[in-house]
Amino acid sequence: MNEFLKFAIETAQQAGAVLRREFERPKQISYKGEVDIVTESDRRSEAMIVARLKERFPGHAIVAEEGGGAVAAGAKYCWHVDPLDGTTNFAHGYPCFAVSIGLSEDNEPIAGAVFNPVSGELFTAARGEGAYLNEQRIRVSLVDKLANSLVATGFPTHQRKRSANMNYYWEFTLRSHGVRRDGSAALDLCSVACGRFDAFWEFSLNSWDTAAGVLLVREAGGIVTDLGGGPYHLGGPHLLASNGLIHDEMKEVAAIAERAGKP
Ligand code: IPD
Ligand code: CA
Ligand code: CA
Repeated sequence: MNEFLKFAIETAQQAGAVLRREFERPKQISYKGEVDIVTESDRRSEAMIVARLKERFPGHAIVAEEGGGAVAAGAKYCWHVDPLDGTTNFAHGYPCFAVSIGLSEDNEPIAGAVFNPVSGELFTAARGEGAYLNEQRIRVSLVDKLANSLVATGFPTHQRKRSANMNYYWEFTLRSHGVRRDGSAALDLCSVACGRFDAFWEFSLNSWDTAAGVLLVREAGGIVTDLGGGPYHLGGPHLLASNGLIHDEMKEVAAIAERAGKP
């Protein structure tokens, strides 16, 4: 296994152990926005991850959600760290959250680990080496019609009233077996990678939400683009991930939803 992925896995597992312990305890919550929650556990997990990365890879850049990252001028490698993806779930005792650690080289994901410390599920991928769940190879689903699919999305915590996603939610709900909103974008992407979901879309995600999950979907044989089918760049305004077989239908419905939202 390559040294970057090995380090990402060890780090995600250590941070996950912190979250697992703290999940059982009363949470100290504060607000970054109207409904944008942060807990002491987000901060503790991030501090631990960032300290390890800085020590081991001092020349690499780090982008971390709670602001503990590191700038490294001209760095080829950048770590994208979500110390707790699914904070709202965590704070409410809903066991769907994860540590997500992705590494990019020239802005393209090359290694990623996503760890849910409650289920014990560890999703891993390295570019060109496949995607794995607890060391078992995973593949995207074979569902080839949107009408037979289970898809997923998420909603932003910022500027909620301005989000067009409710139109998308409506249009996809009418055309699929259902739309899930599980509250962890990193795990949503992993669920596409292992075939539980056939597709996932969302607006306004950050690179720490997607760097690891995007690689997992690609290495599992799926496709990741923007909602129009153009290239997805880490931190881009919208993302569409699928098993590839329903990607065109997803794009068509996205276009319908986009038009429906126009006055
Ligand atoms: C959030 C989760 C959620 C998604 C939000 C993200 P956080 O991340 O991934 O599923 O819908 O857009 O911000 O805040 O729990 O790390
Ligand atoms: Ca997140
Ligand atoms: Ca987070």
